[in-house]
Amino acid sequence: MPLNLAGCGLRAFFCIAISFFCIVRAEDPYRFFNWNVTYGDIYPLGVRQQGILINGQFPGPDIHSVTNDNLIINVFNSLPEPFLISWNGVQQRRNSYEDGVWGTTCPIPPGKNFTYILQVKDQIGSFYYFPSLAFHKAAGGFGGIRILSRPLIPVPFPDPAGDYTVLIGDWYKANHTKLKAILDRGKKLPFPDGILINGRGPNGVSFTVDQGKTYRLRISNVGLQNSLNFRIQGHKLVLVEVEGTHTLQTTYSSLDVHVGQSYSVLVTADQPGQDYYIVVSSRFTTSILTTTGVLHYSNSAGPVSGPPPGGPTIQVDWSLNQARSIRTNLTASGPRPNPQGSYHYGLINTTRTIRLANSAGQVNGKQRYAVNSVSFIPADTPLKLADYFNIEGVFRVGSISNNPYGGGIYLDTSVMGADFRAFVEIVFENYEDIYRVGTLMAILSS
Ligand SMILES: *[C@@H]1O[C@H](CO)[C@@H](O)[C@H](O)[C@H]1NC(C)=O
Ligand SMILES: *[C@@H]1O[C@H](CO)[C@@H](O)[C@H](O)[C@H]1NC(C)=O
Ligand SMILES: *[C@@H]1O[C@H](CO)[C@@H](O)[C@H](O)[C@H]1NC(C)=O
Ligand SMILES: *[C@@H]1O[C@H](CO)[C@@H](O)[C@H](O)[C@H]1NC(C)=O
Ligand SMILES: *[C@@H]1O[C@H](CO)[C@@H](O)[C@H](O)[C@H]1NC(C)=O
Repeated sequence: MPLNLAGCGLRAFFCIAISFFCIVRAEDPYRFFNWNVTYGDIYPLGVRQQGILINGQFPGPDIHSVTNDNLIINVFNSLPEPFLISWNGVQQRRNSYEDGVWGTTCPIPPGKNFTYILQVKDQIGSFYYFPSLAFHKAAGGFGGIRILSRPLIPVPFPDPAGDYTVLIGDWYKANHTKLKAILDRGKKLPFPDGILINGRGPNGVSFTVDQGKTYRLRISNVGLQNSLNFRIQGHKLVLVEVEGTHTLQTTYSSLDVHVGQSYSVLVTADQPGQDYYIVVSSRFTTSILTTTGVLHYSNSAGPVSGPPPGGPTIQVDWSLNQARSIRTNLTASGPRPNPQGSYHYGLINTTRTIRLANSAGQVNGKQRYAVNSVSFIPADTPLKLADYFNIEGVFRVGSISNNPYGGGIYLDTSVMGADFRAFVEIVFENYEDIYRVGTLMAILSS
């Protein structure tokens, strides 16, 4: 959809003004980032593409932080079009207008800058950021976010010898404008051309390990639509953290990572000193895309050898069973916000159930996706700002139903009301033939 900035331009000053209302605790450290977002040539699959770089890098730089840090990220948009970054998994408590999706935050106009002010309050774990407008994510602009525990807080495993960000995702040789045009012409996305690991094609990345030591890999699926399976030849993956929660430490030979998910695994270099394949392959697709990277032992006697290990392909049960096997380690320490007595999960009475079903279809000749029949269109003023400044007529609470009702897809700015401290059960229903992880584009307002 074309970006209509008329309203946002006028109200850009709200975005700036509102930043100063953000309450930060003076004693928590500050980390400052200056980012310049530009277009630049990248060659991930061997052909030249116009990528989105941050400070000249593709993928963008990692954000390293510690629980409660204040992150001050000044983003200069040097693209000729509006740009917006979302901080996937960062809770943005009392700060949702910094979340960087259209709906909460104004895009940064071309040639301008905006300073995101986030506090990673009471959070730990592995996350990533990505551009949220105009299919920019298909061109780059993403990177890892890690939030370490504060030094005094025990972590339920020994300090790893190294800690690597592993961004995996499907990738297209077509540029993001072309991909967007395909949807705008009413077609679905084509099958991807490849899979990237940290922005590189086959055997483009190598992680060096010392024999006998244990390493942490923070794996995020930053792709557009494909679920991916991750595995390492001859090595086990010990899952220790999922998006900010320490898990019961379970050993897997491979791990499914759906779009938007982040997992931390420990890998011990307990094999003979040589190089091993890291394999990422597509799930639930009839033809299987595969890429490889290298786990390189510092005392390696030789290059990778043998066939890359196979993994699950179209089996859905395998994936569901693996997801069900993942459990929170309730005795592990870690900042754990405790809204309304979350230690008593299972005992709290649900006050409301919301069912959200996704669907796909065409509206006005364009390929659209909907939740409970509503395909979201942004209002000209971000909803959080409209809410904050009591601007009438921007959105209507109740413009999306609580339950699917089977109606045809229509466009609206969907907003659902909710009561403060209600205990809501949300059920995602997928009747489409593609595997999707739900993204809630509605705002729950009290
Ligand atoms: C961003 O990078 C571009 C291209 O290198 C440069 O022209 C521009 O001055 C940079 N802007 C900032 C704010 O650093
Ligand atoms: C833009 O960057 C300048 C400094 O480089 C900074 O002083 C200013 O506050 C930034 N503006 C916004 C809206 O973040
Ligand atoms: C859970 O965390 C505790 C406390 O750190 C740790 O001792 C225990 O080994 C963990 N359990 C599992 C199964 O990972
Ligand atoms: C994107 O791809 C289209 C079609 O291949 C091409 O015409 C266009 O110039 C490309 N745009 C950029 C910015 O590379
Ligand atoms: C849930 O409802 C039951 C039955 O009404 C009640 O006995 C119980 O105390 C409620 N639990 C909580 C945590 O409020």
